[in-house]
Amino acid sequence: MSLSIIILAAGQGLRMNSTQPKVLNCVGGYPMLYHVLDLSYKLKPVFTTLVISSKLDGYKSKINKKYPKINFSYQKKQLGTANAVLAAFSNKKILQTDVTLILYADTPLVTYETLSKALKNFNKDNLDMQVLSMKPNDIENSYGRLIIKNGKLKKIVEKVELNSEQKKIDICNSGIMFLKTKYLYDKLKKISNNNKKKEYFLTDLVELFSNENFKLSYFEGIYEEFMGANDKKDLARLEAQFQDSMRSNFLKKGVTLIDPESVYFSKDTKIGKDVVIHPNVFIGPGVVIGDGVEVKSFSHLENSQIDNFSIIGPFARLRDEAVIRENSKIGNFVEIKKSKIDKNVKISHLSYVGDAEIKENTNIGAGTITCNYDGKKKNKTFIGENCFIGSNSSLIAPIKIQKNSTIGAGTVIDKNVKEESVVYRKSELIKKVKK
Ligand code: UD1
Ligand code: MG
Repeated sequence: MSLSIIILAAGQGLRMNSTQPKVLNCVGGYPMLYHVLDLSYKLKPVFTTLVISSKLDGYKSKINKKYPKINFSYQKKQLGTANAVLAAFSNKKILQTDVTLILYADTPLVTYETLSKALKNFNKDNLDMQVLSMKPNDIENSYGRLIIKNGKLKKIVEKVELNSEQKKIDICNSGIMFLKTKYLYDKLKKISNNNKKKEYFLTDLVELFSNENFKLSYFEGIYEEFMGANDKKDLARLEAQFQDSMRSNFLKKGVTLIDPESVYFSKDTKIGKDVVIHPNVFIGPGVVIGDGVEVKSFSHLENSQIDNFSIIGPFARLRDEAVIRENSKIGNFVEIKKSKIDKNVKISHLSYVGDAEIKENTNIGAGTITCNYDGKKKNKTFIGENCFIGSNSSLIAPIKIQKNSTIGAGTVIDKNVKEESVVYRKSELIKKVKK
């Protein structure tokens, strides 16, 4: 059996009320579209096409770079989901495959396991069409409803077309379907736009297949996996669901979350063994946490690496390729940006460290600032091993402070410092009695 995948991403997304293309809205710090593209890669199809509108033109090269195996098709006018699938057939390679899977780029939480199970079922029963269905917990939902008679799927009715009886149906369409490719292509062209929205509904395929006695069925999955995002409220619901499953996974893997509901993860967050995360921590994309790390409350981490046994926070901010080697401490109100902090370094309070490299066993005193920006460009700071930087020092980059040096408190340094130096500014303290 050869599989192709069509991913629909050309919709206007009007209900999002935003200028950004809908499928680029993020869940777990990752565009919904990327979740679905990842999924398509895992299924190892012979061919995948992503149906886009010109709105996604500007993002094409970025998508291509990350997912080089993906082909693109254009849907010129947004005439509905059936019209979008038809646009995918502009590439005739799909017709050489036996089975086509249709995925919606606004439905990002589906798992590989569920799709594999459904595909197995599709093949085992030698079906012509299989719709993946779900039972949402809210009957007022906006999904299409499955009309089933004597256990047989007859039709899908879209929300706008439902009569009062049909509104009571709780089994809904996830939008995902498997079809024999040749029948899909034949029947697509027969769909009309004779409905209230004047759109070509992909879901009308079901009635066409049913009327011609094709072998069709439905496969019930978990609602939480099949939720789609049409508006910001849906998006927030998806995010909550995503976070919930990330928290459960990490707890299962042995991560201690003192207050799980207040910790946020990204799709690519990696965490080692025996890690403790305190309440109110936000972990954005690109964070890798080693073993035995403790992340204290109100820390915001993005695109950073924290090695074994380091302690971060409370109120720490790491970003832009911050690397914290093992056993280091980044304390309260400390921001580390694009810097390499070697092992056993302490930056315990109120510091900004940007574009810097700090070698092992160095202590950075409270209020130390790397002055990395000269108004035009970012400059680098180097601090060697075993240094002691006194509190409230300003290190004006570019600057190098070589190993075993001590900088006195409150020093503004604008010249390189040799190994084993002691540097401080001498200014006399004036002490008088008031008249
Ligand atoms: C669709 C289904 C509905 C199902 C729900 C599941 C249809 C007609 N309805 O409704 O039965 O319960 O998904 O979430 O299919 N798209 C295009 N071109 C278009 C229109 C849409 O590419 O002209 C894409 C969108 O980008 C989106 C997907 O198709 O990724 C679904 O479109 P959307 O408008 O979100 O359909 P729903 O109203 O959610
Ligand atoms: Mg949708």
